[in-house]
Amino acid sequence: MAESTLSTRGAELAQGPNMRDLAGAILGTPWDPTKNPDVIVNIGTAENHPMLGDVADFVKSKDLEIDGPTMDYGEGPWGSTRLRNGMARFMNRHFKPHTPIEPDELNSVNGCTSLFSMLGTTLADPGDGVLLTMPSYVAFATDVSLISRVKPVFVPFGDTDQFSPDCIRHYESARRKAENEGIRVRMLMLCHPHNPLGKCYPGDTLVALMKFCNKHKIHLIADEIYAMCVYEIPEPDAVPFTSVLSFDYSQYIDSNYLHHVYGMSKDFACGGLRIGTLWTKNKDLSRAISAISQFHYTGQLDDRVACLILEDEIWLDNFLKTSRERLATSNKLAKQLLNEASIKYASGSNAGLFLWINLRPWLKGEGSDDEWVREEKLMKKLLGNNVFITPGKGQASETAGHFRLVFSREEACLREGIKRIVKTLEEH
Ligand SMILES: Cc1ncc(COP(=O)(O)O)c(C=O)c1O
Repeated sequence: MAESTLSTRGAELAQGPNMRDLAGAILGTPWDPTKNPDVIVNIGTAENHPMLGDVADFVKSKDLEIDGPTMDYGEGPWGSTRLRNGMARFMNRHFKPHTPIEPDELNSVNGCTSLFSMLGTTLADPGDGVLLTMPSYVAFATDVSLISRVKPVFVPFGDTDQFSPDCIRHYESARRKAENEGIRVRMLMLCHPHNPLGKCYPGDTLVALMKFCNKHKIHLIADEIYAMCVYEIPEPDAVPFTSVLSFDYSQYIDSNYLHHVYGMSKDFACGGLRIGTLWTKNKDLSRAISAISQFHYTGQLDDRVACLILEDEIWLDNFLKTSRERLATSNKLAKQLLNEASIKYASGSNAGLFLWINLRPWLKGEGSDDEWVREEKLMKKLLGNNVFITPGKGQASETAGHFRLVFSREEACLREGIKRIVKTLEEH
């Protein structure tokens, strides 16, 4: 191969995995039953589709009051005072924090994705470790480590329910193993509600996690981006959402080690706005984050639109209620279609936009293929039949054959996507 013209780091980035390779086929042309029936049906990307029109109509109905200064830099890349006031008020109403959130405790940048990278850079040194559950949100490992060079340390749970306090012994052994290999564990990414499992953590597990992090001086980062996507369904094991912020956390963890991430991409169906907010009481961290936030600026127009949404509380509460109802409806339809096809899915989920489905019975390959090769083969067949769901390998699944299926789609799209999955399984 010709020598790269880039730096070592640039060359590694150029050769590594790249979203852009997939984007053309999966994100480029959205499926439409009449206009684009022959493209990929994307039921893999976590977007709150049934609510997009509602939020767009709301913004169109408002006067954005754009004036000259709106087109300038604004107050600075940590979010306008108006945005941080609006977000603090929202969090105080909906997360029921033990101590009220103050706007000054918030830093707002262009998305939670940016925050993960910034937190990796500011909380850990290259070669230090970050604990991640198995399975994990598909982008956590890359987002935290790509720039910071922090090492992902995945925690397997085997037969233990990772939502029970018993999970701690698995975090403990993953931590100990990493430390024995010379990796100092500095962070733990907690996705609550969990992506891709769609479940909330019970209070006693959250307390146990706070104590575990406190004991080992590990920064606990609670990503609660799906907090308002908790829907009502008849699931006997379903656990309601209780924010980490609602605990008197100072009993369990030094507040310098607890950080909270929230954004507008899921609950507000506004992935295009690029708003991600960090709450921390750690003043050093807040300063370090704002020192690099000029690389992660939210534009003033996004900031302004976010303020309008956050400030109309009557409309917003109604929007969140409708979103939860539509999620329950789509979840029910997805389960019905999966049941009809005898496809199993993880039980007990009541949150997020997805189901964790089990296609293990359909893993096939040559005799010497291991199960991950078989998963990849199945994935290629699914893509060949123009349907995208997210394979377990990239999500650090413990065993092959699990996929994340996003049900928050218009009915026709969801039906067509599952139809294509079923067709692929029949042919496979
Ligand atoms: C758990 C989780 N956190 C963060 C994000 C991305 O957030 P943002 O759009 O604010 O970058 C996602 C997107 O899928 C997610 O699932």
